[in-house]
Amino acid sequence: MEKSLTIAIDGPAASGKGTLARRIADYYHLGHLDTGLTYRAVAHMMLQKGWPLDDDAHAIEAARQVDLGNLDKHALSAHAVADAASKVAVIPEVRRILVDKQRTFAAQPGGAVLDGRDIGTVVCPEAPVKLYVTASAEVRAARRLRDIEGRGGHAGLAEILDDIRRRDERDMGRSDSPLKPAADAHLLDTSEMSIEAAFRAARAIIDGVLAGQNAS
Ligand code: C5P
Repeated sequence: MEKSLTIAIDGPAASGKGTLARRIADYYHLGHLDTGLTYRAVAHMMLQKGWPLDDDAHAIEAARQVDLGNLDKHALSAHAVADAASKVAVIPEVRRILVDKQRTFAAQPGGAVLDGRDIGTVVCPEAPVKLYVTASAEVRAARRLRDIEGRGGHAGLAEILDDIRRRDERDMGRSDSPLKPAADAHLLDTSEMSIEAAFRAARAIIDGVLAGQNAS
């Protein structure tokens, strides 16, 4: 029987975990789910319908409608959607519905890479590989600014830094599934690392786990 590999990647906003997750999924030929998009999809629907973000009943209805096969990355990339996502993400029933969908994705034959905030702690606590990717808030803000400018946009560094700190606080401070490394996660601080170096470090961790599995 083909072996299945689940890789859980968590970390704060703009830590580089998304890029890393995509590279890892390509390299190991695994499916990939950016679970942030599922929370963004709920937020996007709430904003479009004009529903207040603390309207639990409508947020739950929106969460039920999230279709993993139909997440429009482009529409969901807006800054306002990200901020709203971290507000609907505090609603326990929204999380329960989305986590169910994420677990179904993780269970696909062969395995998958999932990235988010609670993958190693809640969604896939049995994953043999868990990475917690982080970087200082200043480095993350500078990367985000470079991204925005690279796409021809404009923004202020101080404003981005504020925004990142606010989102960290909300994600780490909520009572249901706060962002934190799983006890057995490998920490990857990318503050001083290029994406290439982070990818090499992640591969070394994953290959080490795979070698251990094959030996046992
Ligand atoms: O990763 P991304 O920035 O797209 O996530 C948007 C928001 O969705 C996060 O700030 C967080 O509040 C929420 N989220 C979550 N759990 C996940 C993924 C994202 O609570 N697994």
